[in-house]
Amino acid sequence: MELYDVMRTTFAAREFTDAPLPDATLYKILDQARFAPSGGNRQGWHVIVVRERATREALAALTEPAARRYIAQQRAGESPWNSIDPTRVDAAAIARTPAPARLTQPFVQAAVVLVVCVDLKVVASTDQELERVGVISGASIYPFVWNILLAARHEGYGGTITTLAVAQEPRIQELLGMPPHVAVGAVMPLGTPVTQLTKLTRRPVAAFAMRERWGGAPLSEESIA
Ligand SMILES: Cc1cc2nc3c(=O)[nH]c(=O)nc-3n(C[C@H](O)[C@H](O)[C@H](O)COP(=O)(O)O)c2cc1C
Repeated sequence: MELYDVMRTTFAAREFTDAPLPDATLYKILDQARFAPSGGNRQGWHVIVVRERATREALAALTEPAARRYIAQQRAGESPWNSIDPTRVDAAAIARTPAPARLTQPFVQAAVVLVVCVDLKVVASTDQELERVGVISGASIYPFVWNILLAARHEGYGGTITTLAVAQEPRIQELLGMPPHVAVGAVMPLGTPVTQLTKLTRRPVAAFAMRERWGGAPLSEESIA
């Protein structure tokens, strides 16, 4: 596929056919994805390739608590899991909110699940002393994660970056025998999508790009004509 077509059509696939994703194809995908950048080129990524049913079911179960909170907050009109506005949704409301199957079943249904981890011993987390949630560490793993999805799309496959299970990271580490300094960046179901979306919903450039300062004139189509 042409690069811009891949970039414009790599969607979050959550429903998969029974078609396999062979190790040889997975190897090819990872062999392209590894050219992603990382801070200082430290390449702190590790990928656990999960095919065993019991492990996938455990990952689906570990997704449930965060999925419940996500949906409960969404129903309350909040931006789920944001770190700025404290939630007004209480634990009881979260506990009685069901976790929708579309957030848990992809782990069981997909041909394979990749647990993409990052070794925090080699990540330069330059925002670690700021009084906000860390953002920079993710930048040493998500270009790699996204490259996996781009390469998968190119090969006719699809998947989703998922992070809900990471709220239960210590239990994922235990499940997969990971050392504590290795963080989970994403749990990615991959397979053949039931339908291949080609038109994604995204904001236009003028809605997010501005000139010179926050609130500056938008970089719009009209302004470049
Ligand atoms: C950082 C990040 C975390 C995400 N976490 C989840 C998740 O836990 N579960 C899930 O189903 N999708 C998750 N997604 C997928 C997004 O919902 C999806 O990329 C977005 O809605 C756009 O979907 P589209 O490309 O199909 O339009 C995540 C995406 C990103 C980038």
